Amino acid sequence: MPTFQTVRGMRDLLGEEAQIFAYIFGKARNNAQVYGFKEVMTPLVEPLELLSAKSGEEIRQRMFIFKDLGDRQVALRPEFTASIARLATTQLKTEPKPLRLFSVGSVYRYDEPQKGRYREFYQGNFELMGSSKPEADAEIILLTNNLIRTLGLKDYAFKIGQVGVIRGILSQNGVDEKVQNAVLQRMDKKEYDAAFQLLNDEKSRIMLEGLLKIKCRNWQETIDQIKAHVLGYEKAEAAAKNLFEILELVSKSANLTINVEPAFARGLEYYTGLIFEVYIPELEIAIGGGGRYDRLIEAFGGDPTPAVGCAVGIDRIAIAMQTQNTILQAGEGKKVVVIPISEAIRVEALKIAQNLRVEGVTAEFEVMGRKMGKALEDADKRKFDYAVIVGEREFNEGNVVIKELAKREQTVIPIGKLIEKIKS
Ligand code: HAM
Repeated sequence: MPTFQTVRGMRDLLGEEAQIFAYIFGKARNNAQVYGFKEVMTPLVEPLELLSAKSGEEIRQRMFIFKDLGDRQVALRPEFTASIARLATTQLKTEPKPLRLFSVGSVYRYDEPQKGRYREFYQGNFELMGSSKPEADAEIILLTNNLIRTLGLKDYAFKIGQVGVIRGILSQNGVDEKVQNAVLQRMDKKEYDAAFQLLNDEKSRIMLEGLLKIKCRNWQETIDQIKAHVLGYEKAEAAAKNLFEILELVSKSANLTINVEPAFARGLEYYTGLIFEVYIPELEIAIGGGGRYDRLIEAFGGDPTPAVGCAVGIDRIAIAMQTQNTILQAGEGKKVVVIPISEAIRVEALKIAQNLRVEGVTAEFEVMGRKMGKALEDADKRKFDYAVIVGEREFNEGNVVIKELAKREQTVIPIGKLIEKIKS
């Protein structure tokens, strides 16, 4: 019988890697909590129509689609935003706004597998629904920044744009929305020639090429240049002004690297305003991204509800943490093995292990009945901090032996002092 492998693009997560993922989930949850976002859990399988309605060609072509046994067209979620927007039109329709909703879990896209690109991957997702104000956009950027910072990443930058600039130019020149979507799709992939070929009018082409050429020292100057470039295109001007307001709020309340890219576009079709992605220098692919989508909830049959959100790619953050050597933070807390010297003392040793766990110390009890030397060798190999060795003679005197594995030092200490020693 041949052994089974995982499906292409999908991975088993084991050992330290699983631990890092769980650590990032925990930090994402914690971040949600401190920003007032409530967790919601939505199904992995959703109606195909919901997921494909406003996501755009790129995502539509990469979904895992199938018919369930009831002949329904369904798909594995390629992101969370559509599911959360569905919630805002149903169960949460009458909830007071704003809604601050957080989710974490796996999502599925038929992408070409490579480093940092998988077909099953994990996102931490934040949606803020009900506000059209720049304060809401600022909050989303700030919480993304806070999450990345608390994960220990130091070297990263925000690439930021406002899709209303390009859309404003194109709609004023009479380019219909379908063509706009196709143009943005190609600009997202930096296929500028292909994008411009879709435009029949010279004016639009010149305007977009002009955006591409803007290069400035800082984001303030870049936005000034955009404003000057789009003079007379009212919607595009308003979009540039909106971006300035958002970034002023953000930059005055946090320290982060902001690169405004005038011709920046993102693959998802539902964006109407701010768009952004986060990059580290060591990876060419984004570790997170998001933006404003003011018409999605309405398109799903809900009341008009402006919204803004973001998702971080947990798999890519794990890679970023490894590259920037922040991994050690994942190993919070000391790890201890508890080894009884003989069967006669195992109940007492088990009780000691239990007490350590009550105090929040990770304690593994020796369950293999191995000889002391073997058990210690194993603990050493698995990078445990301490071995607590419980022998009858010491125990009867109220003591145990504690061995600091890295230093190979061992001492006899009173059982009552064990926690203090381990936590010191
Ligand atoms: P997205 O940019 O498509 O946005 O995905 C967010 C993040 O998921 C990316 O920045 C990346 O880190 C990660 N990611 C995407 N594809 C893959 C892949 N094949 N393998 C590993 N990681 C990947 C969204 O999904 C939007 N729903 C974000 C949002 C929320 N916008 C508004 N609200």
